[in-house]
Amino acid sequence: MARIGIFFGTNTGKTRKVAKLIKKRYDDDTMADPLNVNRTTVEGMMAYEYLILGTPTLGDGQLPGMSADCDSESWEEFVAKLEGADFSGKTVAIYGLGDQVGYGHEFLDGMFLLYDFLKQQGATLVGDWPTDGYEFEHSDAVVDGRFVGLALDLDNQSGLTEQRLDAWLKSISPAFGLG
Ligand SMILES: Cc1cc2nc3c(=O)[nH]c(=O)nc-3n(C[C@H](O)[C@H](O)[C@H](O)COP(=O)(O)O)c2cc1C
Repeated sequence: MARIGIFFGTNTGKTRKVAKLIKKRYDDDTMADPLNVNRTTVEGMMAYEYLILGTPTLGDGQLPGMSADCDSESWEEFVAKLEGADFSGKTVAIYGLGDQVGYGHEFLDGMFLLYDFLKQQGATLVGDWPTDGYEFEHSDAVVDGRFVGLALDLDNQSGLTEQRLDAWLKSISPAFGLG
């Protein structure tokens, strides 16, 4: 089994695309193939000590899922299944997709919901990220002046995605035991 699990939720596929860009950078022993959270089980996720989790923000600053009018179940429903799971001893890094122009008043709020949930389950969260280079009015995902995970905006800044990924993955490498 690979050392790092990578899971995502999505509605229109951009968060899956980013998961694939991340996986492309690692061999199969290091990282598993990305899986949609609506195609895995709690045990499937809990099998990993190291996790990279991706989510868009949809609806009204929400996690993807049926209440956010998504086409299928997603993080909203999977988080309900994870309630009570023990994440202590697990190292988790989150990336979030949002739209700072269209939703600048709730930019990446869903990333905060995932972060907050996992923290409450005992996870060690790594991979916070500076707010420089983004323009938005408000984001719940900014804690102590930094995003709680990698902030991506494929709607307005898709050209920055690869370089942001490279820098972020480098920054989490020590915590993930990567060379
Ligand atoms: C109906 C709808 C609601 C959205 N709400 C938010 C939001 O509250 N905050 C935000 O930052 N982005 C919001 N977005 C932008 C999405 O997060 C962004 O387009 C993302 O890349 C979609 O990812 P996906 O293709 O993986 O579903 C919204 C997009 C749509 C279509």
